[in-house]
Amino acid sequence: MKIDEVGYWSELKLEIIKKYASAYSTILAAQKSALDHHYIDAFAGAGIHLAKRTGEFIPGSPLNALNIVLPFKFHHLIDLDGKRVKNLREMTKNRSDVRVYKGDCNAVLLEKVFPEVRYENYRRALCILDPYELNPNWKVVAKAGEMKSIEIFLNFMVMDMNMNVLWKNPNAVAPAQIERMNRFWWR
Ligand SMILES: C[S@@+](CC[C@H](N)C(=O)[O-])C[C@H]1O[C@@H](n2cnc3c(N)ncnc32)[C@H](O)[C@@H]1O
Repeated sequence: MKIDEVGYWSELKLEIIKKYASAYSTILAAQKSALDHHYIDAFAGAGIHLAKRTGEFIPGSPLNALNIVLPFKFHHLIDLDGKRVKNLREMTKNRSDVRVYKGDCNAVLLEKVFPEVRYENYRRALCILDPYELNPNWKVVAKAGEMKSIEIFLNFMVMDMNMNVLWKNPNAVAPAQIERMNRFWWR
């Protein structure tokens, strides 16, 4: 399995998500209206990273969420990479409050995970979208908004957009790149 070597900015991102998820879980656990609050990591990764700064292994976003003191009621972890999924399954095999899915999160979220967290069933969810590239589909964001039960934390793929799509001369951008941007942005 390929383990990502992450720089300082990724460590900072992990810290921000960890603190946000912890605050979210604390607040939701105290609310009577939300019986269950779920954690969804749509681009979950391998579960661990190698920090370039220290050369040490550090927990990824799913492990951070699993260690929150006032825990989420349930955790949904999704990744496209079979080896990473296997590792996530191995790391969480003793937890009955975790389901790991292998597949494109755009389909898995809409077909399997979002139906588990319906507003009318008194469920709420924090959904982390942390892709490398322009992978998320706007339909996912739109559906989460419609459902009113899901809060999204989106790590914006600025580098991919700037390098491949948002050029000074839009006519020079490859149609496939425009299509990727459109899928994420508006349809
Ligand atoms: C930036 S990493 C996630 C890091 C993780 N959130 C963390 O902070 O520990 C992005 C992950 O998304 C996965 N991925 C890429 N495209 C995907 C897709 N369409 N659906 C699900 N996972 C995908 C990759 O295999 C990779 O593990």
